[in-house]
Amino acid sequence: MNNPDNVVEMRSISKSFNGVSVLKDVGFDVRKGEVHALAGGNGAGKSTLMKILQGVYQADAGEILIGGRPAAINSIHDAKAAGIGMVFQEFSLVPSLTVAQNIFLGSEPLGAGGLIDDHAAVRRAKEVFSEMEVDVDPRAEVSRLGTAYWQLTEIAKALAQNATVLIMDEPTASLARHESEALFELIDRLKQRGISIIYISHRMDEVYRLADRITILRDGRHLLTEPLTDVTPEQIVEGIVGKKIEGQLSYRARHVAHDVAPLLEVRGLNAGHRVRDVSFALRPGEILGLAGLMGSGRTELARALFGIDKVDSGEVLLRGKKVTLASPQQAINAGIALIPEDRRAQGLVLEHSVQDNLLLPLLGQIQRGPLLDGAKGKELSSSLIKRFAVKVAHPHRPVRLLSGGNQQKVVIAKWLGTDPDILILDEPTAGVDIGTKSEILDMIRELANAGKAVIVISSEYPELLAVSDRILVLRDGSIIRDIPRSEIADEEYLQLAVQGV
Ligand SMILES: Nc1ncnc2c1ncn2[C@@H]1O[C@H](COP(=O)(O)OP(=O)(O)OP(=O)(O)O)[C@@H](O)[C@H]1O
Ligand SMILES: [Mg+2]
Repeated sequence: MNNPDNVVEMRSISKSFNGVSVLKDVGFDVRKGEVHALAGGNGAGKSTLMKILQGVYQADAGEILIGGRPAAINSIHDAKAAGIGMVFQEFSLVPSLTVAQNIFLGSEPLGAGGLIDDHAAVRRAKEVFSEMEVDVDPRAEVSRLGTAYWQLTEIAKALAQNATVLIMDEPTASLARHESEALFELIDRLKQRGISIIYISHRMDEVYRLADRITILRDGRHLLTEPLTDVTPEQIVEGIVGKKIEGQLSYRARHVAHDVAPLLEVRGLNAGHRVRDVSFALRPGEILGLAGLMGSGRTELARALFGIDKVDSGEVLLRGKKVTLASPQQAINAGIALIPEDRRAQGLVLEHSVQDNLLLPLLGQIQRGPLLDGAKGKELSSSLIKRFAVKVAHPHRPVRLLSGGNQQKVVIAKWLGTDPDILILDEPTAGVDIGTKSEILDMIRELANAGKAVIVISSEYPELLAVSDRILVLRDGSIIRDIPRSEIADEEYLQLAVQGV
């Protein structure tokens, strides 16, 4: 039976890549004006299912119905014509063009002589933004705008093409807190206008805030579809992970010896505009959280300590000895590792194999004369893949083909392979599923227990509160608070501290 409320219905979808089955007989449907959350562990097949709906991949078996009728979606063009819009995780905009030009790229209102009629484009873009009730200047060049505006431009682009279904794949991954809230409000408004949204996220709070129903995929199979009112967060987590996870975000008090000399000491550090007169000490076994708003200088401090950004003045001491950290190589040699925030740009060579990526910082260990020791490399990379449960068919496959969360695992595995004394993690759990998240938090605790010093940057307060022994609050590049974990009662306390209240 066809359900007339279904704007999209995917039936018995199966898909394999090179003989490896990724989706098995998956059913999925979306009703008019609903937000339907699509959840599942890293590599479960969420993005692949959506790429099939969007015409990027073709299913090996199964059918797609749009508005109750079978539809052949063989290209992105077919999907657009069927009203399916996608807000890409890796944005598809042309940075050097204006917002309006991007919105109408490929479907430009043509003026005299067949050129893009900029006036008409700007006027229509303004209409779309006013329907969305957001304030974006259609004349602004996209490269000058922040991520949140890129996303709004993508949404406007889809709406200008009369999309009735919008797919959002981890849309808040690169947004600050207040930007995420603005996006949620926009989603509420779109919903009221009858637009359906398929929302992929690893964040439970977002799913509960937004979604009417949830579908969970596990290992490429459909596990359940339920209204959110009928499932508990525990059931969802268990569905995604396949087992119960308890207290993953609860803080376990740790003992940090205060009578030992610091491993890292930073004195009066200045770097660019975003690191100003920063001083702190970090002891072995200590986990230091960095909190602050977007632009408060957390990432910049990490970059300066890892030798990426130039230090203007101040001192860094490792085990009491002054060091110069003028390049990442110097930082690595000194025993520092940075797991960067933007893994795709900074953490991985996407075209290279998983094994090559894992071994990159380890070349020193596997070099035998001028040659690389192939057997040793293979052994090292397999042990890292196993330790971090990276889901990859073969270590020689390019990293690009891994799911988003598995790429993040490769970045972490890669840097832990170097056995650093000081580990800096910038948003380490962005994009990873709930099961992996608790593994990463446990791993951070274990590293500290083994005497390493760890700095964690995270915009997710519960996560920061779960692992940190101490939290530094940054604002405009300076430390405004240094708070022991034991003095922080709850999330709200930290939130107020970050806002400088
Ligand atoms: N083009 C491709 N070629 C080969 N394998 C692929 C390709 N695209 C995806 N895969 C594999 O399909 C599986 C599902 O990947 P998919 O990206 O759909 O997962 P996901 O649920 O979106 O995960 P994540 O939460 O980590 O983003 C993964 O094992 C991935 O490696
Ligand atoms: Mg994905």
